[in-house]
Amino acid sequence: MSTSPTTIVIVGASRGIGASLAREYAARGCSLGLLARSEEALAALAEELRAAHGITVETAILDVAARDTVAPVMQGLMDRLGQVDVVIANAGVLGWRKAGDGNVAEDRRIIETNLLGAITVIDAAVARFKLQKSGQVVGISSISAYRGIPGSGAYSASKAALTNYLEALRMELAGKGIGVSIVHPGFVKTDIGPNMDKYPFAADPDKVAKEIADGIARGRKNIIVPRFPWRMVLPVMRLLPDAVIRKVF
Ligand SMILES: NC(=O)c1ccc[n+]([C@@H]2O[C@H](COP(=O)([O-])OP(=O)(O)OC[C@H]3O[C@@H](n4cnc5c(N)ncnc54)[C@H](OP(=O)(O)O)[C@@H]3O)[C@@H](O)[C@H]2O)c1
Repeated sequence: MSTSPTTIVIVGASRGIGASLAREYAARGCSLGLLARSEEALAALAEELRAAHGITVETAILDVAARDTVAPVMQGLMDRLGQVDVVIANAGVLGWRKAGDGNVAEDRRIIETNLLGAITVIDAAVARFKLQKSGQVVGISSISAYRGIPGSGAYSASKAALTNYLEALRMELAGKGIGVSIVHPGFVKTDIGPNMDKYPFAADPDKVAKEIADGIARGRKNIIVPRFPWRMVLPVMRLLPDAVIRKVF
């Protein structure tokens, strides 16, 4: 396996996949910068990781939807860490609603966080990496970027747009020493939504985090996790009839 990068910033690290990534990188001896809105959860995680692995862990409170605060908070955290190798834009929310129920505010909340929030985080990372002339940007998208999930159109659209944004960014930054990796997770057993364990091939977040960290270490452009079965399923997802997708979801 390739060696892991040494200093990692994770936005959306207080629980779920982000917290599992923090634990995975801590076990690999990396220095960490952890951000999210939940102050207590972040402080507890940082303390746990320092005690277990003797590593440097810096934290900062950040709401990615409060866009004016994102760059200064991230730059402050990255200044405390020094050289930063990887920034992972992981913060995200899931939402369901019935089309036509008028609750467009819910769609706006999802897009503000998953798309505009992620873009703002990524932009701050790229600004830093351009000065360093090195670094790897990682965006956590979703399998829903490949095929819209009925009842969750805003979520699916936010992830499809994020994937597209990162593809464009990767080409723009080619040759500048800055890598871009897009992660497409299948269903993962976290608290992002109810009954996540009931979905097909629902995976453990620790297993997913290990596969993501391995993909990042290899500089992979498209990291599909868990690898089995989604590496085989995703390419055909766009070809499946609507009726099959509706049945699954
Ligand atoms: N679970 C799945 O099946 C699945 C599948 C595909 C993709 N994903 C993606 O994976 C990522 C992580 O999801 P998860 O399942 O681990 O969800 P989760 O357990 O709910 O964790 C979400 C993380 O994002 C943070 N976050 C949410 N809104 C934020 C905001 N406005 N500002 C800063 N941080 C924010 C949360 O921290 P605070 O609440 O403390 O701010 C938390 O640390 C998301 O982007 C999600 O879309 C998940």
